[in-house]
Amino acid sequence: MLNTVRDILKPANNKVILDMTFGSGGHSLNLLKQAPEMRIIAADRDSLANSIALDCNNYMSNILPIKSKFSQLKYKLIANGVLPSSLDGVLIDCGVSSMQLDDAERGFSFIRDGPLNMSMDNPRKDKNEQIKGKKNASFVVNHLNEKTLSKIIRKYGEERHAKLIAKRIVENRLINSTLELADVISSAIPRGYGSRKELSIHPATRTFQAIRIYVNDELNELNSAIECAHLFLNEGCPCVAISFHSLEDRIVKRHFHSIDFNMKNNLSARQQMILSAGKAYTHSMKDIKNSVRKGWKPLSRKIFNPDMQEILANPRSRSAKLRAATKELL
Ligand SMILES: C[S@@+](CC[C@H](N)C(=O)[O-])C[C@H]1O[C@@H](n2cnc3c(N)ncnc32)[C@H](O)[C@@H]1O
Repeated sequence: MLNTVRDILKPANNKVILDMTFGSGGHSLNLLKQAPEMRIIAADRDSLANSIALDCNNYMSNILPIKSKFSQLKYKLIANGVLPSSLDGVLIDCGVSSMQLDDAERGFSFIRDGPLNMSMDNPRKDKNEQIKGKKNASFVVNHLNEKTLSKIIRKYGEERHAKLIAKRIVENRLINSTLELADVISSAIPRGYGSRKELSIHPATRTFQAIRIYVNDELNELNSAIECAHLFLNEGCPCVAISFHSLEDRIVKRHFHSIDFNMKNNLSARQQMILSAGKAYTHSMKDIKNSVRKGWKPLSRKIFNPDMQEILANPRSRSAKLRAATKELL
């Protein structure tokens, strides 16, 4: 999605762009190719990503590294002298990076064996260091009760076998590593059961996603990210959000299309107004539009997906969905 992000953010030397998910800097560096003097605020909660941003800052002083999760970012931006309504663009490239997934010691992988960690903030420095605290995969897998575990797997993994998996996990405690966990999950899922799509992915995919989302509070974090983007963007400037599963995309869509978070269906604020106005009395379309509180103007109704070339180069990008919207004043 490098080109789509660049086309929407339109890099220019006089702009300031906030990359909330700097990772290894792929998107930011691509933007800088077009506008080498543009200022980039390179934020990420991950220490390794932050150290890459610090390295970049050694030879590109226009990169400002900030180590922060989304929910704390507004305070850190203010502390670094960034004013609300001052940014020309924001990028949120959600989820876990290849760097995090490929390092077995981070505990995100069900293919490479590692400790049950999955925390984006706390990489263990060496193999002998204990994983501490409640917010890690080991705590979730080995200490939560079966009902809570099942709810997490169902809600954040959208896994239909959540109950069976939770039961099998509890029966097999203590589970020490990611491969052990993946085996336990696989053994709980009835063989050959599921849609073709479900059968084409590793049986542990959804449960690992669920635990990771829970450990890192990813959905609340994403909500904070979009609120923070709105606060710091200049009016009319774009926010680009790339999501990797439907739970993330739903949050992005609800913000960008002004859909009430309490509504069951994805009706936009305007559709809701038309429905309720129609029941009671008749409004003109102009009245309805004027009374809808909107914070964003979507750049397009359609979602941008990666093209075949990108998917071949990076198979993990196949599930990426990109949405973009510009800030409107509330
Ligand atoms: C898909 S990667 C981004 C890759 C990056 N755009 C690149 O080109 O290399 C997602 C990044 O977002 C970071 N991240 C995820 N959730 C976050 C949060 N709540 N706050 C801050 N950073 C977060 C992760 O640590 C990870 O580095």
